[in-house]
Amino acid sequence: MSVATMEELFVDELKDLYSAEKQITKALPKMVKGATSAELKQAFTSHLEETKGQIVRLEQAFEILGKKPTGKTCVGMKGVLEEGSEMLEDTDPGEVRDAGLISAAQRVEHYEMAGYGSARDFAKLLGQSEIANLLEETLQEEKSADKKLTGISKAVNSAAKSAQ
Ligand SMILES: [Fe+2]
Repeated sequence: MSVATMEELFVDELKDLYSAEKQITKALPKMVKGATSAELKQAFTSHLEETKGQIVRLEQAFEILGKKPTGKTCVGMKGVLEEGSEMLEDTDPGEVRDAGLISAAQRVEHYEMAGYGSARDFAKLLGQSEIANLLEETLQEEKSADKKLTGISKAVNSAAKSAQ
């Protein structure tokens, strides 16, 4: 058993988040390219930049712990992102695709929010307050990215409905 203690579980979860963020940086450029709405393209582009900063925060956490961030694949994120690429395959450019991309991207955000919330609580429990702050900062970014998408979806979804 490689995960037997809360410390090991904590490191394992951080590795999982690291893998998830790395996968997201590869997927987001495809979402930018696939989106039609300028606002949505912009939201994906700025979240890509944000994600790079989130990777740096995780690297800082690993540095504090004296551990390596690599060695784990976040299988959950892989699946969620696969659904995003399926959306790109199943749709043509336009409002309906954009509505689908927002829906896929919000799944990504919620998955991340769950992971960061748990990891932040583990950090607090283990007395790693500096890491808890780093994780909290990222959690807030994911939450506002999600809210921003909800905002964009209002116009996109109704445009998609009348485009039928
Ligand atoms: Fe993220």
